[in-house]
Amino acid sequence: MNIVWHLVVLIVLTNGLASNGASTSTNVSNSVRPSVVNIGSLFSFGTIVGRVAKLAIEAAIEDVNADPTVLNGTQLKITMHDSNISGFLGIIEALRFMETDTVAIIGPQNAVTAHVISHIASELQTPLLSFTVEDPTLSPLQFPFFVRTTRSDLFQMSAIAEMVDYYGWREVVAIYVDDDHGRNGIAELGNKLAEKRCKISYKAPLVFKPTRDNITDLLVQVALTESRIIVVHVYDNSGFLIFDVAKSLGMMGTGYVWIASNWLSTMLDTSFPLSEDDMANLDGILTLRVYTPDSELKRKFISRWSNLTKGKPANGPLGLNTFVLYAYDTVWLLAHAIDAFLNQGGKITFSNDSRLTGIRSKLNLDAMSVFDEGNLLLQNILKTNMTGLTGPFGFTPERNLIRPAYEILNVIGGMRRIGYWSNYSGLSVLPPETFYNKPANRSSSNQRLHDPIWPGQSSQKPRGWVFPNNGRRLRIGVPYRVSFREFVSQVEGTDMFTGYCIDVFSAALNLLPYAVPYKLQPFGDGRKNSSRTELVRLITTGVSVIFVCRGVFLLVK
Ligand SMILES: *[C@@H]1O[C@H](CO)[C@@H](O)[C@H](O)[C@H]1NC(C)=O
Ligand SMILES: *[C@@H]1O[C@H](CO)[C@@H](O)[C@H](O)[C@H]1NC(C)=O
Ligand SMILES: *[C@@H]1O[C@H](CO)[C@@H](O)[C@H](O)[C@H]1NC(C)=O
Ligand SMILES: *[C@@H]1O[C@H](CO)[C@@H](O)[C@H](O)[C@H]1NC(C)=O
Ligand SMILES: *[C@@H]1O[C@H](CO)[C@@H](O)[C@H](O)[C@H]1NC(C)=O
Ligand SMILES: *[C@@H]1O[C@H](CO)[C@@H](O)[C@H](O)[C@H]1NC(C)=O
Ligand SMILES: *[C@@H]1O[C@H](CO)[C@@H](O)[C@H](O)[C@H]1NC(C)=O
Ligand SMILES: *[C@@H]1O[C@H](CO)[C@@H](O)[C@H](O)[C@H]1NC(C)=O
Ligand SMILES: *[C@@H]1O[C@H](CO)[C@@H](O)[C@H](O)[C@H]1NC(C)=O
Ligand SMILES: *[C@@H]1O[C@H](CO)[C@@H](O)[C@H](O)[C@H]1NC(C)=O
Repeated sequence: MNIVWHLVVLIVLTNGLASNGASTSTNVSNSVRPSVVNIGSLFSFGTIVGRVAKLAIEAAIEDVNADPTVLNGTQLKITMHDSNISGFLGIIEALRFMETDTVAIIGPQNAVTAHVISHIASELQTPLLSFTVEDPTLSPLQFPFFVRTTRSDLFQMSAIAEMVDYYGWREVVAIYVDDDHGRNGIAELGNKLAEKRCKISYKAPLVFKPTRDNITDLLVQVALTESRIIVVHVYDNSGFLIFDVAKSLGMMGTGYVWIASNWLSTMLDTSFPLSEDDMANLDGILTLRVYTPDSELKRKFISRWSNLTKGKPANGPLGLNTFVLYAYDTVWLLAHAIDAFLNQGGKITFSNDSRLTGIRSKLNLDAMSVFDEGNLLLQNILKTNMTGLTGPFGFTPERNLIRPAYEILNVIGGMRRIGYWSNYSGLSVLPPETFYNKPANRSSSNQRLHDPIWPGQSSQKPRGWVFPNNGRRLRIGVPYRVSFREFVSQVEGTDMFTGYCIDVFSAALNLLPYAVPYKLQPFGDGRKNSSRTELVRLITTGVSVIFVCRGVFLLVK
């Protein structure tokens, strides 16, 4: 049902794009500065990010309207629609905004909706400012009216790739939610790893709402692979379950490395403190958090936060996460841009899109209007240069927020910072602004993080790989013959072997920090000495000898 409606909307709009009619213009407001400017916002109130972002946006609107230095005499009026974690509702709610005279929309919350409604926004010239969508593929060339007011995963994935390289690992497994957000983030991780001559050796996609069984099936596959470096790029709804299942499968122990993208830090920031059981599952994980420099402005807002959340009917925790800060700054960015727009004589007028008139449908598409000077507002948004809660706030020519940086955190009871990553200086134990007025130096000897505590309470850096266990075992050929029985001989009637060589071999295996499954196979007929020629022939068929002890050959197949 949802899919059918989705298609109806898209088809109608795509047809609209094909013809290029003129539009009729009327002035909605004749005064030079309107008394009210309407903006919309679109996100899911029920999510961890949505719940707190709503409070931040309301606080920002109140602050803007109370501040005589911006939009003097003009009130910002915001209408909030709940997309209720549904791509379909997100699209419909966005269309509803386009029917009212809305100059810009704050949202959407997720990448799936952003891909669809960015087409509509371009068509109707209404800027979309998303403080949550990190999907790096939403390009300004394809979607000129999509403005990202948070960090692109382009940078988060660079940070993860540099961490992998810094620790000397080569291959990672990626577990991700199989939608635009997950897929496109992980594709970027692949690119960034390739620049470091590293790679994703196994991709494990997960449905949006996975069951415990789905996760178990997936993690069993992951455990069979060679890499022990697992990057998890999902939403908070499935994240905890992943680590819970991983724990039950013994995958949160020594030897494993888990790197969670910023969904985990966001979740912990919002819901902290968690129950001790939940926290214990997470020990040793590394995660990232968007870095925002310390400032007087930010400190004031943090101390105000408990007032803002007090008495709010919340269905869950209301801790302050970085998206709260970006949501607040996004409203101010828009206020400054609208102010500049009005100062330049910009008019808030709307026209009926003549390409849509005459399309009679229950969706009432012909009521959607084009914001005539939307492009001028967009240019003002991109030119804005302000300092907000998140620090200096403005755009590079590629339309990314300036100075991308992350904190690198080690979950151990709580979150302990082990360093920073910035686009400017790479990995460091000092905050990024220490470096901005020095020449950039990314030389590898400058890269540094504090030592984390790894899974299994280990302080030793995991080597990052094991012999793959996916149904293949080391086959070890053992001479089955008459002489040198003290070195190796088969226990009669069993397939076990004893002897000096076997003892040396198992002692050596026990020293390795990972398990090597193997099978001893008698080689020869037990009467004649086994033939060296036959052994050499085996090697030519792809079996290779890696260890020899007085008559014991270790053959790897
Ligand atoms: C719209 O406003 C402009 C300037 O305020 C004015 O010149 C123009 O006549 C108005 N158009 C209509 C249709 O009222
Ligand atoms: C705001 O508007 C009022 C009245 O229109 C004016 O007196 C005041 O100077 C303006 N303030 C600023 C900062 O522009
Ligand atoms: C959101 O959607 C769920 C089911 O998908 C529904 O149960 C709930 O009532 C909806 N909430 C709102 C506020 O529409
Ligand atoms: C997830 O699990 C459900 C039921 O446990 C099953 O029906 C579904 O096919 C699974 N999906 C995947 C992608 O494995
Ligand atoms: C919080 O609210 C109280 C009472 O309303 C007020 O006295 C206090 O100044 C507020 N604190 C902040 C940081 O706004
Ligand atoms: C645009 O079309 C709608 C519906 O057809 C109509 O109600 C509205 O008056 C039109 N607006 C303008 C500015 O022409
Ligand atoms: C932004 O403003 C600050 C001072 O307010 C200035 O130093 C800086 O150069 C400006 N940046 C741009 C890109 O205009
Ligand atoms: C990140 O660094 C690269 C290379 O130094 C630079 O070209 C790019 O503009 C930077 N991006 C941002 C958003 O600062
Ligand atoms: C970068 O840092 C390294 C180590 O601190 C130093 O040896 C090197 O000279 C620096 N390079 C530049 C260009 O400053
Ligand atoms: C097996 O090899 C040993 C040592 O090379 C030799 O002494 C012995 O006679 C051989 N036995 C047979 C049955 O060939």
